[in-house]
Amino acid sequence: MCGIVGAIAVRPVAEILLEGLRRLEYRGYDSAGMALLNTQGITRVRRAGKVQALADALAQEPVIGNLGIAHTRWATHGKPTEANAHPHMSGAELAVVHNGIIENYEVIKAALQAQGYVFSSDTDTEVVAHLLDLNYRQSGELYTALRATLAELEGAFALGIMHRQQPDKLLAARKGSPLVIGVGMGENFIASDQLALLPVTDRFMFLEDGDIAELSCSGIKVHDDQDHAVERAVHLYEHTGAAAEKGPFKHFMLKEIYEQPQVMRQVLEGRVYKDHLLEQAFGVAAAEVFDQVKSVQLLACGTSYHAGMVARYWIEELAGIPCHVEVASEFRYRSVVIPQDTLLICLSQSGETADTLAALREVKGRVLSSLAICNVPGSSLVRETDLSLMTNAGPEIGVASTKAFTSQLVALMLTTLALARRHGLSSEQEAEIVQNLLALPEQMQDLLKLDSQIEEMSQAFAEKHHTLFLGRGSLYPVAMEGALKLKEISYIHAEAYPAGELKHGPLALVDKEMPVVAVAPKNSMLDKLKANLQEVRARGGELFVFSGDRQSIQQEEGISVISLPPVSRLMEPILYTLPLQLLSYHVAVIKGTDVDQPRNLAKSVTVE
Ligand code: G6P
Repeated sequence: MCGIVGAIAVRPVAEILLEGLRRLEYRGYDSAGMALLNTQGITRVRRAGKVQALADALAQEPVIGNLGIAHTRWATHGKPTEANAHPHMSGAELAVVHNGIIENYEVIKAALQAQGYVFSSDTDTEVVAHLLDLNYRQSGELYTALRATLAELEGAFALGIMHRQQPDKLLAARKGSPLVIGVGMGENFIASDQLALLPVTDRFMFLEDGDIAELSCSGIKVHDDQDHAVERAVHLYEHTGAAAEKGPFKHFMLKEIYEQPQVMRQVLEGRVYKDHLLEQAFGVAAAEVFDQVKSVQLLACGTSYHAGMVARYWIEELAGIPCHVEVASEFRYRSVVIPQDTLLICLSQSGETADTLAALREVKGRVLSSLAICNVPGSSLVRETDLSLMTNAGPEIGVASTKAFTSQLVALMLTTLALARRHGLSSEQEAEIVQNLLALPEQMQDLLKLDSQIEEMSQAFAEKHHTLFLGRGSLYPVAMEGALKLKEISYIHAEAYPAGELKHGPLALVDKEMPVVAVAPKNSMLDKLKANLQEVRARGGELFVFSGDRQSIQQEEGISVISLPPVSRLMEPILYTLPLQLLSYHVAVIKGTDVDQPRNLAKSVTVE
């Protein structure tokens, strides 16, 4: 994903910007560039490929400047060439770096071309540079010109801007894509994240959507989207390597469970705008690929495999195209028949799982295209697939995967939308799903309030040796994931079954020593599931139900019920996962196991 760094100082800033870009490399990118302003005007240096290529170019021909912007580009519009690399300029006057997507760039581009502007790249960003130039010519004031420019732009983006005639100003704007301001002493900075600026400051200001910031050496002025001058608080960066610290939580797993509302925001940020998907987020070649897809093959291992199983329900229902899911370790050794125009989706938190990579390499030449859904930019999987969508969940330390799973589900729903909108999904349906996705953080917060109830329920499991998890439809893979969590960290044998299969075998195991967990949202399968639960009760089995219907499943002898708030049907697999994560966590804590590093297991399995 693109990265932005900018600086205004009394000292030369090229080295600061370069170091910032290096620190943003982890985000994934395919070209890099920098523009610096000095008395000669703006000098721009760009290179396709690595930041090191840019550094080498600057070492050969150093550029001095006290004001500069720099960028790592992850191509969405136009190939990863030098001409498409940022910063983009309008004449020699102004330079712009941009992260995100300008959705209506084609319309703006045509209007600007009609006014005589000549474009030198295929990017959406270049329209911002020329539009800003046009507006600046009218107002002669950079802030006013940027305000007018933003009013015309649709999409999710963050911008860094400098103008030759305004050598004491660095402008920044944010709408839907991340951007922070680094507050220095007699110098100020912008960047896509704090990490980029840690060598120069530990004080940060977070812009809100619609904000414009004007930075000079001596100060920072912020205006909100209503054009009101506002104060944004300055926060001190905690030098604890926050992502790698447990903070107030007893275990990383619990911390990561509780991070999920924020993770939902991170995976959606820059990927949806108002009521629809921004499919350029998948990369420059994505639209052409999605146009041709006639079937989907999902490959993954472990928890990621369960995310793939959920996605099959979504893809077949909403896009109406066949979707197959398989564990990579089996798929790679089978004589697989791959239908024409298949999109291969490889799901992996780490992007380094040996079986998933091997399966990809095995069939890559036989599919239409390959897409990685992954949490680690620059991982082998991301490098080797044609397209990628990062899950942006942040580092996951607990071996038992939690936030990586729910972020994969959201990424898979975005992928489903990209496919389904080509197969009859109406814009109203898409808008409804996007609204449902945007509601996830709040709904997750509500679910986390059930924690103490779930902790209480978990007592009943600590002395048991076997458990059964039941679900139907897209909640069956959620039951599988719940069972996997429990066995991973509490070492209690747990199996998941689609509830309709109960009477074909597992019912023989049911007695009072085997708790049966059921995920039972209020949907069209509920009555069927209830009948299955009766079968358990009739055999003396003890039920633990996560229910979406207070009325129809009630607490009574042998049935413990935790009621969940109403959720929209398609979001059920994402939301019902949380209580199961908490259940297994608390059982493991009672049992006193090593929650974050369970015996015999590894976070990233890089061997077959
Ligand atoms: C290991 C981890 C699991 C993970 C699986 C697949 O078994 O312990 O948590 O789900 O690998 O990993 P991936 O990184 O490919 O998602």
